[in-house]
Amino acid sequence: MKLLEDSKCLKCHSVDKKKDGPSYKETAAKYKGKAEAEAKLTKHVTVPSKVKIDGVEEDHGAVKTRDAEKVRNLVQWILSR
Ligand code: HEC
Repeated sequence: MKLLEDSKCLKCHSVDKKKDGPSYKETAAKYKGKAEAEAKLTKHVTVPSKVKIDGVEEDHGAVKTRDAEKVRNLVQWILSR
């Protein structure tokens, strides 16, 4: 997904392997069947936050777009891994 590359998400995430962050497959499994999944992930990928990686705080990036439609696509893509 181009947006993931442009937003440097793949530095810490991959689709099926654990890197610094959980794989998107893991995330999809975690949110499977949860009604609030889309809302939660939308917030997570659009609002910059801090995450702990091996005890060190790092900035969690946000997607480089303001297009709500693109964000929705991305979230649904992650959830359907
Ligand atoms: C600095 C490394 C890093 C970058 C860059 C990064 N992430 Fe993450 N991400 C993490 C870590 C670590 C977690 C786990 C945080 C937690 O569970 O508190 C995480 C969690 C997530 C989750 C799961 C959230 C949840 O509630 O389970 C999603 C979805 C996600 N990232 C998407 C993205 C997207 C999309 C981008 C690009 C805009 C991105 N990440 C960039 C490290 C990163």
